Amino acid sequence: MTDNGRVGTRGRAVVTGGSSGIGRAFAERLAARGLDLTLVARGAERLDAPAQEIRAMHGVDVQTIAADLSTPLGLDQVEAHVRQVEGLRLLVNNAGFGTTGPFAQSDIDIEEQQIRLNVLAVVRLTHAALTRMVPTGRGGIINVSSVAGFQPGPLDATYAATKAYITNFTEALYEELRGSGVRVQALCPGFTRTAFQQRAGWSQRAVPGFAWQEADDVVEASLRALGRNQAVCVPGWHNKVLVATSTKSPRALVRRISGIFSCRAFR
Ligand SMILES: NC(=O)c1ccc[n+]([C@@H]2O[C@H](COP(=O)([O-])OP(=O)(O)OC[C@H]3O[C@@H](n4cnc5c(N)ncnc54)[C@H](OP(=O)(O)O)[C@@H]3O)[C@@H](O)[C@H]2O)c1
Repeated sequence: MTDNGRVGTRGRAVVTGGSSGIGRAFAERLAARGLDLTLVARGAERLDAPAQEIRAMHGVDVQTIAADLSTPLGLDQVEAHVRQVEGLRLLVNNAGFGTTGPFAQSDIDIEEQQIRLNVLAVVRLTHAALTRMVPTGRGGIINVSSVAGFQPGPLDATYAATKAYITNFTEALYEELRGSGVRVQALCPGFTRTAFQQRAGWSQRAVPGFAWQEADDVVEASLRALGRNQAVCVPGWHNKVLVATSTKSPRALVRRISGIFSCRAFR
């Protein structure tokens, strides 16, 4: 980032989950600003197309790392890259997934994978990036959380809890880093049109049309908020209303309404 808070036009951004959805939208916007990229995801072939398109369109260097961030081996590989890659300016911890259904009937190994990816990978990569950024007094980290983190999530209990962790963790770092020149942001989108819902088993029909956003609009809001050094970015007026209502209402009421909504939304 430059001193005026904009993402600079030189240096590199590491984007996890950069092959699809919100991560891909980040990759395109950051390349358009002239940043070189490292894109991380599990599927090597799913990384190839965006990498080639971005190189061709923006003339930046795009490296790809095919790694599963929910495994110690994959996480080590990406952590090592973050520790040594030249010109690190921005880390976008975006890779994540959700599960739905009663926790008691869930596959506990998949719940653990979710915690490893949505929480542990974010914590370790954030630490690796900060060891580079703090001594130089510049750089930025965007941790992709969710509006789901502002209330308990019956039938997506683990997912909502991982996102509550990420928002709280990032806000705490924001205060620790005040005056350091390094910016951190928790990006908390609501329903965004990506592959996420299908993978998580959500019924998109349960969500009214006005509640949806495009990944590109989410990313634009996030980068604008980073420019203003905003700790938490909730894109979209409807999501802002949801968060304000959730955080100001009695917890028991919020929990109950979440439960009723979840029963409709999850197949
Ligand atoms: N879409 C929404 O409505 C919404 C709302 C709030 C928050 N979010 C958050 O936004 C973030 C991005 O989600 P999205 O909506 O863009 O979903 P998406 O389209 O499913 O993209 C997920 C990305 O993460 C990668 N990924 C998944 N598991 C991985 C693993 N174990 N290791 C490395 N990479 C992995 C995927 O590639 P591979 O499958 O090839 O690994 C893909 O590039 C997530 O953190 C999600 O929780 C989404």
